[in-house]
Amino acid sequence: MIYHNASEVDFQLDGVPEMPSPSRVLLTRPDHFDVEYTINPHMEGNIGSVNKEEALEQWKSLRQLYEALGIEASVIPGEEGLPDMVFCANQTLPFIKTVSGERGIVLSRMYAPQRAPEVPFYASFFEEVGYNVHPLPDSVSDFEGMGDALWHPGRFLLWGGHGFRSSIAAYSFLNEILGVRILVLKLKDPDFYHLDTCLSVLDEDTALIYPGAFDAEGLDLIRTVFRRVLYAPEDEARSFFAVNAHCPDGHNVIIQAGCDQTISVLRREQFNPIEVRTEEFLKAGGSVFCMKQMFW
Ligand code: ARG
Repeated sequence: MIYHNASEVDFQLDGVPEMPSPSRVLLTRPDHFDVEYTINPHMEGNIGSVNKEEALEQWKSLRQLYEALGIEASVIPGEEGLPDMVFCANQTLPFIKTVSGERGIVLSRMYAPQRAPEVPFYASFFEEVGYNVHPLPDSVSDFEGMGDALWHPGRFLLWGGHGFRSSIAAYSFLNEILGVRILVLKLKDPDFYHLDTCLSVLDEDTALIYPGAFDAEGLDLIRTVFRRVLYAPEDEARSFFAVNAHCPDGHNVIIQAGCDQTISVLRREQFNPIEVRTEEFLKAGGSVFCMKQMFW
């Protein structure tokens, strides 16, 4: 079943099959990271402006933080000529099937031709760690993995964004091959071109969102399924990717430094925000959530 609006929701979260939380993280070293082209509005004016040493330091701190949180990290190198490869959430959608235990990935079909050659490197990585690889059919023109498709924490339930980078046809296919319920959200602001820039799933009950990125139907759907919805202010969401935060465990929230209002909202709600610096990566239109891929 694919859900477009709240009136279609015919389930309770407790009735949705459980899915274990992923405990491993994949990171890609920013060996060749830079801004070399413009495929989202954040990149405009930033070509050639990345401080490579600073980027490496920021990335290393992020890696250390995951390890300090007890999450096993796998690292693959970046490839020459693929400056956006560091954003390793986008090339795949990893999944685990609750009943069969199958671990697999659905491969992305990148919207920007510049990024298409990144995908096979991720197919190889996941194949090596024992995942089944599922390519997309020709009928799906674009799909950018966990940039747009987010697992509801703890449940075999998927949130799917479309409008800029992923086509809605991707969700019919995912529904078919995974047998998963999908809640579809239309994105309407080009600064929030991926779902992970405006929806952060913190725990089973809680989402952090930037509401201005959604239409009324989408907002309604989010507010129907999550018991608690927290809001990031526009400036922090737009300029500092406050909503591209990552909560790996239902408690700690890794977030770009300086998102002060969002951080105080998170603290008020008993989360533990941990600030990291991703300024170099913000120049390319990405922050914490896009710089990692969780898997099992
Ligand atoms: N420059 C990259 C792009 O436009 C950034 C990707 C960031 N990833 C994300 N999930 N938001 O594709």
